[in-house]
Amino acid sequence: MSKVNVEKYIKNYGRTKEASIPILQAIQADYGYLPMDVLGKVCEESEITKSHLYGVATFYSQFKLTPKGKNAIKICKGTACHVKGADVSIVAFKDQLGINIDQTTEDGAFSLETVACLGCCSLAPVVMINEDVYGSLSSSKVRSTLKKYGKE
Ligand code: FES
Repeated sequence: MSKVNVEKYIKNYGRTKEASIPILQAIQADYGYLPMDVLGKVCEESEITKSHLYGVATFYSQFKLTPKGKNAIKICKGTACHVKGADVSIVAFKDQLGINIDQTTEDGAFSLETVACLGCCSLAPVVMINEDVYGSLSSSKVRSTLKKYGKE
């Protein structure tokens, strides 16, 4: 792994625990998630303890501790999708990928998250995979949709 340079985070936001949230936001903006080695280095170079930084990172849902998969799946949990059975498709995605919400498959191919309204409620229940939107989801449609992205 390349040498991690955390100086800019500390320089921009400070070295005390009050800087934890902006530092984590900046790391996530750079990496797309919060790599453990980067967090560890921040703690080494600042006054922020590991337990505090990891506590903040796990408390707020905006922070991701695992990288997104090659195919990022966003399942809508907005009201219209919920009423039309979003829970069924959430279960189907979890079962077929063998992961939970906010996790990434071991091969890095898929990650799963839930989001609020995707803005196409008439298609409910809806999922977005990368930039593509799929509506009227059912368990079988989840399977056929995943196949398009290389899932066996
Ligand atoms: S509630 Fe799901 S797209 Fe609007």
